[in-house]
Amino acid sequence: MEYRIIEFKPKEVSDEFWDRYFEYIETNHMEMHPDDPLPNREGVIQRQKADIPDFYVKRLLAITPDNKIIGWAGFGFSEETASDYEENKHIARLHIVVLKDYRRKGIGTDFLKYAVKEIQSLNKTVIECGSDHEAGKAFLKHYGAEMTIEGAENRLEMADVDWDMMQEWINEGPKRAPDVRIDSFRTECPEEILDEFCEMCTEALNMQPLGETESRANIDGEARRKFEKRIKEIGQTNYTMITREKDGKISGMTEIYYDPREGHRLNQELTGVRPEYRGRGLGKWLKASMIVHIRDNYPEVERIITGNAESNEAMLSINNRMGFKKYKGGEGYKFKVEELAEKLNL
Ligand SMILES: CC(C)(COP(=O)(O)OP(=O)(O)OC[C@H]1O[C@@H](n2cnc3c(N)ncnc32)[C@H](O)[C@@H]1OP(=O)(O)O)[C@@H](O)C(=O)NCCC(=O)NCCS
Repeated sequence: MEYRIIEFKPKEVSDEFWDRYFEYIETNHMEMHPDDPLPNREGVIQRQKADIPDFYVKRLLAITPDNKIIGWAGFGFSEETASDYEENKHIARLHIVVLKDYRRKGIGTDFLKYAVKEIQSLNKTVIECGSDHEAGKAFLKHYGAEMTIEGAENRLEMADVDWDMMQEWINEGPKRAPDVRIDSFRTECPEEILDEFCEMCTEALNMQPLGETESRANIDGEARRKFEKRIKEIGQTNYTMITREKDGKISGMTEIYYDPREGHRLNQELTGVRPEYRGRGLGKWLKASMIVHIRDNYPEVERIITGNAESNEAMLSINNRMGFKKYKGGEGYKFKVEELAEKLNL
């Protein structure tokens, strides 16, 4: 089968290109998420064009002689300026997608070879990737990837929420944790709590079950500010709730991301309670308060989407009681670059 692999620089392509790109994106979307509305086109372009702060990214496309896009690959890693460079300097991240009708023709392998050559030349020793698709898992295992973690995309339909139970969790909060209050902010973390909030996020990200994954978080104030800039650039908002102890310390957090152009859904990301403050109902109080906030402020949201490790018992216990249901299982994998290069005869 005839095709070529080219580099794709979202900031440099023409309008005509985007039409072909959407044909690819939407064909793939209909296979992977047949029940979900198509992604908003303007949102896709914005997300592709906005820089990911302090993260090198290279995007590739597989193109037929008549200019049809049939595959996409992206790989990248933390740059030296990144706050998490020390933790992750040996790791590259990689994702490859080939349209259904063009699989098992060696296109995935060609992408992999291209990426591994460059990743190896930059002295990265580990590649981390993942898949929620049987073909992807088979491909990764074929090339000797080791599974690092089992996870799932979990979804909660707003129509299924037990609002009386949510109100009970909110009422219980201050009874079990007197003198604790919930504060909130939209996208921009207040300057006076910036360092402490970043420390809390770093801790929560690194303390969640990570299996054999090697990537670690290290967020500082500068990284957070750059991240907030990107959220705005891609047309999204973030809303965060934190619990503050009597002495003002931040003990827990939960956050959501919202794009009004895809207003039927909303993503719930990090939730965490610092170890010394656990066992007092803060996780339930935060999650219940957030879902009431969503109901009252985003009336068009039909479902909340989140991702969890299958071994995250504490989070799943709260989420399952709220009515979150497993939508799709996914697995994390890693390669040792040297072994993979040998397998690919590079
Ligand atoms: C993963 C993916 C990109 C592979 O693309 P591809 O072009 O089909 O891959 P290749 O043709 O180069 O496959 C190489 C080998 O992997 C193995 N493989 C690939 N797909 C497989 C499948 N569905 N079942 C079993 N083995 C499979 C085979 O051994 C294959 O060689 P063979 O066809 O000669 O037997 C494609 O399946 C895909 O887009 N999946 C969804 C996205 C995804 O999960 N990506 C994760 C990878 S980071």
